[in-house]
Amino acid sequence: SWADVKVSLNPQNTGETISKYIYGQFAEHLGSGIYGGIWVGEDSPIPNKNGFRNDVIKALQELQVPVIRWPGGCFADEYRWRDGIGPREQRPIRVNTHWGGVEEPNTFGTHEFFELVELLNTEAYVAGNLGTGSPQEMAEWLEYIVSNSNSTVVAERKKNGREEPWEVAFWGVGNESWGCGGNLTPEYYTNLYRHFSTFVKATGAKRPKLVASGSYDDDETWTTPLSKLKNNIDGISHHYYTLPTSDWSIKGAATGFDEKEWILTLERTLKIDSYLATQTGILKKNNPEGNIGLYLDEWGTWYDAEPGTNPGFLYQQNTVRDAIVAAVNLNIFHNYADRLHMANIAQMVNVLQAMILTDNEKMLLTPTYHVFKMYIPFQDATHIPLDIKGQRDYSAHKTTVPGFSASAAKTPNGNIVVSLVNLNPNEAEEVSIALQGIKVKTITGELLTSQKMDAHNTFDKPNNVQPRALNQSDYSISKNGKTLTVKLPAKAVVVLQLNK
Ligand code: AHR
Repeated sequence: SWADVKVSLNPQNTGETISKYIYGQFAEHLGSGIYGGIWVGEDSPIPNKNGFRNDVIKALQELQVPVIRWPGGCFADEYRWRDGIGPREQRPIRVNTHWGGVEEPNTFGTHEFFELVELLNTEAYVAGNLGTGSPQEMAEWLEYIVSNSNSTVVAERKKNGREEPWEVAFWGVGNESWGCGGNLTPEYYTNLYRHFSTFVKATGAKRPKLVASGSYDDDETWTTPLSKLKNNIDGISHHYYTLPTSDWSIKGAATGFDEKEWILTLERTLKIDSYLATQTGILKKNNPEGNIGLYLDEWGTWYDAEPGTNPGFLYQQNTVRDAIVAAVNLNIFHNYADRLHMANIAQMVNVLQAMILTDNEKMLLTPTYHVFKMYIPFQDATHIPLDIKGQRDYSAHKTTVPGFSASAAKTPNGNIVVSLVNLNPNEAEEVSIALQGIKVKTITGELLTSQKMDAHNTFDKPNNVQPRALNQSDYSISKNGKTLTVKLPAKAVVVLQLNK
C-alpha cells in the first residue's frame, strides 16, 4: 500500500484571478469545424435557426464559452474578409489551400461569426490576415465591425443588415508567421507587426486587445523581440500541440492505443508546464509593466486523422485520455494565471481535440466537452495554490510522470472549487484534503472516468463516457470536519465544490 496524497487547502492563501479566457475556444474554416459542424445554412434539413445547428448551439451555450478565436489558424492568413459579406449567393468561392484543398463557399463570414458570438453570449477574437493581406484591409475590416461613423465601409455593413456596430475584444495580427503564416523570421515579423498594428485602430470605438503571432513549444526567438515592444501590443500568442509520438508523420491513433501511448501522451502534454514557465519568464523580464500577456491560442491533442476521413480535415475521436489531458492542462494553466491571459483549445467542433463531433444530423459531446463543463466554476475564480504531499509517480514503459494533479480556487460567490486528476490508468488513489479553516455545508461535484483507456462516445452510444454526480460513497468528512477524503478511481477527473 502507498501513502495517500495529502492536499492542504488554505483559502487565505489566495493567488491570481484565473481568467475565464483560459477556457477559450478556437473555430477555424477547416474540415467540418464550421460548415456542417456549426453552420448548415437555412435550407438544411438539419434543425437550425438562421443556419446555425440547434443541437450544437445549445450544447455550446451550456459550456459558457468565454471567447472564440476565428477564422484561423493557417486559414486566417489567406482569408479575404470581403469575400464573406453581402448576399450569400453572390459570395466568391475560394480554395482552402491549407485544409484539404476544398472549396470555401464563404457563406459563413463576418455577420455569421458575430451572430454566433451573440448566440453564445461570448466574445470575439478575430485573427487578422498579415500573411497575404495589407494593413489597409485589416484596418477596414476592424472599421466594418466596430465603427459607428458615416464612412462608406460602415454604410456597407448597414446595407448588409447590421445597423449597430459589434464589439471585438481581441485581434490577432497574423498566425504562425514562422510557418503557414508566411515562413517569416522573428525580426521581419516583429517589424511587420509594428507596421500592421499601427493601423489596427478603432476610431471612435473600443480598440481590441492586439495579439502578436508568437512561437511554439520552448522556442524563445519570437517571444523575446515581441515582448520588448512598447506600443500597440497586449499579447503574444503561443502554440503547443500534444502528439503521442512527437513525430508529425505518425502521430499516433486517437483510439485503440496501448498504455505506452497513454503515458507518452501524458508525458508530452505535461511539457506545457516548463514551456509556460519559459515563455512567461521572458514576458516578466522584458515587460515588467505586465501589460503584455501570453495567449496560448492553440493547444490540445493532435492524432492521426480518423481512418477513412480526409487527412486535411483533422477529424479525430476523443477519449477519456483527452479528458485527462484537458484537466491536467487546465490545472497547469491556473498556475500561470498572472501572465497567461488566454488559452484556446484546438478546436471547438469536429477538428482535433474537439468539444463536439457531428455526423450529418447526429451530434455527440466528447469527454473533453465534459471536462470543460465540469471546470466552469474555475472561470474568473481566485486561484488557491495547493500544498500537495505524498503523490505517487506513475511509471510504464520506461516513462514516469506524476500520477496526480490538482487545483483549487475560490469562486466569485465564495464557494471553493477543487479539481483532482488521476493520471494512472490502472490504480485508484485516495486523496485527503486538509480543510484549513473551511466550514463546508454541502459538497457537490462530478466524476468522469471509464473502464477502458480509450473509452469514447460514438453516434450510436453518445453517453458512453459522461460525468456522474458525486455521491456519499465517493468521499467522507472526518468527525472534526477538518479532513475531506475523496476516492479517486484510476484515470479519473473529479471536480467538486465546497459550498458555504
Ligand atoms: O489547429 C490547426 C492548425 O494548427 C492551425 O490552423 C495552425 O495555426 C496550426 O498549425
